[in-house]
Amino acid sequence: MSTTTDSPRNAPLPLLVLGQGTDLRTERGVECPGDLPAPSDPDLVARARAAKEALGDKVFVLGHHYQRDEVIEFADVTGDSFKLAKDAAARPDAPYIVFCGVHFMAESADILTSDSQTVVLPDLAAGCSMADMAAIAQVEDAWEDLVAAGVAERTVPVTYMNSSAAIKAFTGRHGGTICTSSNAKTALTWALDQAGDGGKVLFLPDQHLGRNTYVRDLGGALEDCVVWDPHRPNGGLTPEELESATMLLWRGHCSVHGRFTLEAVEQARREIPDVKVIVHPECRHEVVEVADEVGSTEKIIKTIAAAPAGTKWVVGTELNLVKRLAAQFPEQSIAFLEKNVCYCSTMNRIDLPHLVWALESLVEGRVVNPIRVDDEVARYARVALDQMLALPGETHKD
Ligand code: 13P
Ligand code: SF4
Repeated sequence: MSTTTDSPRNAPLPLLVLGQGTDLRTERGVECPGDLPAPSDPDLVARARAAKEALGDKVFVLGHHYQRDEVIEFADVTGDSFKLAKDAAARPDAPYIVFCGVHFMAESADILTSDSQTVVLPDLAAGCSMADMAAIAQVEDAWEDLVAAGVAERTVPVTYMNSSAAIKAFTGRHGGTICTSSNAKTALTWALDQAGDGGKVLFLPDQHLGRNTYVRDLGGALEDCVVWDPHRPNGGLTPEELESATMLLWRGHCSVHGRFTLEAVEQARREIPDVKVIVHPECRHEVVEVADEVGSTEKIIKTIAAAPAGTKWVVGTELNLVKRLAAQFPEQSIAFLEKNVCYCSTMNRIDLPHLVWALESLVEGRVVNPIRVDDEVARYARVALDQMLALPGETHKD
């Protein structure tokens, strides 16, 4: 960590360019043919190998499950966001951590690694639309509203890993915890306990993960959940709605998982006899409700790996992972849940040319795209991340 802000140009990353015509196949409302972006120049494979070999133990490459095959090939470890955060922290000997994932993951890795280590994000445009849906100023304003309404002292923030370091720091300052899709149930149980009778949880920024965890995993009532809309005064809630709610769900969602539909599940069940539906908890509640299995990317992989040959699956998560699973388990039938969903365009910004550029620059002694979280932000974000790692019985769960 250092005293600079979270990008080398001392400026926050811009919002996603989704919807601005730069990558039409990922635009909202566009039918996706189920294709991934074309693989990069094969000559780059040899260059990536040579650069990695030259760097040896000096570099540790992490790859999220949604990365392209051409990038995963060079990852020392792969995982979901929780596993990768822990993996980064477990390699204090590696001066360079190259994070093949998105910005919030690289920030978390920077927070969890030592000051002598540098985290590199091969393309700074690899952001996350969900994380962008909660800006720190909006969250601070919302908290002030909760203070004015007299409920803040009974409210515990639970923040999904998919958020900026500044919001993680807000969470640490207000006695909350970070969660991921693998440990949201444990985190929410802990937070509700902290909040006490009549207490509340402010769940940021994914309304779906918050709702699904409360209702599906903890058996809570849907009526206890309200959505806090940061664009409306007092979140768009009346004092009565605010007072009676247990779960204050930030109005954010994943632009990939939010597009899987109930109709797609029904169609799969009609067309594929005995099909099993497995989806990520970032999907909408009505989708999660009718799925056979729900879980983080790591859980999806483990569940499919453990299934007997001949099992038929439709999978509601990012396309790179689904295609990789289909290739890895040919004895099972694995299909993508729906044609109106594309790969995650920001995850896919990390391609082989960017990875080669990052690695070859390190070989030449130049660090490109370092992710450095401001020291004060990192201090409080670490409090919230450490709280997550200290949750009762916390190990890597699915
Ligand atoms: P997990 O890897 O934690 O399952 O999260 C999925 C995701 O959307 C990451 O951006
Ligand atoms: Fe963000 Fe969704 Fe992409 Fe994950 S899949 S990085 S939550 S936009």
